[in-house]
Amino acid sequence: MKTRLFSCVAILGLFFAWLPEVFSADDAATVNRLVIHADRGKDTISRFIYGHFSEHLGRCVYEGYWVGEDSPIPNTRGIRNDVVAALKRVKVPVLRWPGGCFADEYHWRDGIGPRTQRPTMINTHWGGVTENNHFGTHEFLDLCDQIGCEPYICGNVGSGTVREMQEWVEYITFDGKSPMADLRRQNGRDQPWHLKYFGVGNENWGCGGNMTPEFYADQFRRYATYVRNFGGNRIFKIACGPNGGDYRWTEVLMKNVGRQMAGLALHYYCGSGRTSRSATQFEEVDWFHLLRNALRMDELITKHVEIMDKYDERRRVALIVDEWGAWHQVEPGTNPGFLYQQNTLRDALVAAVTLNIFNQHCDRVHMANIAQTVNVLQALVLTDKEKMIVTPTYHVFELYTPHHDATLLPTELACADYKFGDERIPAVSVSASRDKSGTMHVSFCNLNPNDAMPIAAEVRGAKLRSATGRVLTAPDMRAHNTFDQPDRVRPERFDNVRVTDAGFEVTLPPKSVTVISLE
Ligand code: AHR
Repeated sequence: MKTRLFSCVAILGLFFAWLPEVFSADDAATVNRLVIHADRGKDTISRFIYGHFSEHLGRCVYEGYWVGEDSPIPNTRGIRNDVVAALKRVKVPVLRWPGGCFADEYHWRDGIGPRTQRPTMINTHWGGVTENNHFGTHEFLDLCDQIGCEPYICGNVGSGTVREMQEWVEYITFDGKSPMADLRRQNGRDQPWHLKYFGVGNENWGCGGNMTPEFYADQFRRYATYVRNFGGNRIFKIACGPNGGDYRWTEVLMKNVGRQMAGLALHYYCGSGRTSRSATQFEEVDWFHLLRNALRMDELITKHVEIMDKYDERRRVALIVDEWGAWHQVEPGTNPGFLYQQNTLRDALVAAVTLNIFNQHCDRVHMANIAQTVNVLQALVLTDKEKMIVTPTYHVFELYTPHHDATLLPTELACADYKFGDERIPAVSVSASRDKSGTMHVSFCNLNPNDAMPIAAEVRGAKLRSATGRVLTAPDMRAHNTFDQPDRVRPERFDNVRVTDAGFEVTLPPKSVTVISLE
């Protein structure tokens, strides 16, 4: 396991035993210390770690993306232009669809052909509303083309047939003459699409069929057999993985079908606060507990990877965290089945520490998909009919774009703890990378909402000429953007950083996400 985030006080002794020439323990009592090994990077932070998830749920697909060709909202072939433009700005690399729980009730053939003739269905999981199937396979793949991202389609194991899954892949990817390729052509698409990522079911331990891991492993083997590679298209088959800390699920899947899968999907939502589940009305106790829960992602990945390593020493199978984020109460007055929640600076910190954790584990974590891009759960984009705003979480994704496909630089961090009552968590989270042009980027989170964190950083193996930064923070931990005040939380230039002989010094404001660029 390479360098990871440290629980600071607990490891200080160990840390200084490792690096006696760098710091003394007395130094650490007053200043937080970071070492960046600029000369030791070997793993690439896949840009797919910055992926997204969008389900037929509430106003994510309908209104969030799809408004229809006749809408007064500016659109391209029915897909709203403002949302596509916003997602292009954060370089969305991959989009997972159509669910979620919806995926295991979705029958793809209902979503092709002339829209007015498509059958309807009930979206039983999400509000019991009628789904008119106007947004289907062609529309989704068009959306991915417009954003410029890879599609990731999740197939139906819970209530669909093997044949249905086989034919969906044939419909999308087969370029010769076949019943499904001909049907695709009838529906206006001559050339096959490129499709790499395919999920064989979703949450099959729960809404996807309530299966045991043994039963699902057999189902995976059977369904995955018929998910074919046609022509030059190569499918990366992703198995349903564990729910949070269900290590037995990972054990059984890796043991029984580890060789048949390319990826195993972990789901983890860090929940809400302790005393309040409201997205915007909360106290410091809730801030602390949500961030503590978000940090648990590190332990989950570490432990699942330990199990994966037992069966896959060469680390061929990727861990795919294809649903993650904060899950609060819905906004007052909205449909509880639509999962529409606001998004504050606290959620930005959740996103930033989680992305730092994924970066640090990039040797196994190949992809992650925040739930869910627009209008649902920890969204990047919120819409109200023709209006659109971006959230603090969106700004974190934008600030972190330099990490896409950059080389992870190992870091050693010794920092103060953020204490609340009898509990404590590390006050600082960090990850560092070097991009293809040689520029290094260090993303810091200060989880402490009250105190600034001075950091002395040593950069080994590189001589710095300049350090510049951008920061996301606000005076109030509950700060969020609204349709009336869309820019209350947005990144600003950050000047509290200076180059030193050894590296740089920086003072992180309380409750902030800061990205430093080093030349
Ligand atoms: O993202 C909302 C739901 O959370 C998804 O449909 C399901 O997979 C998970 O339980």
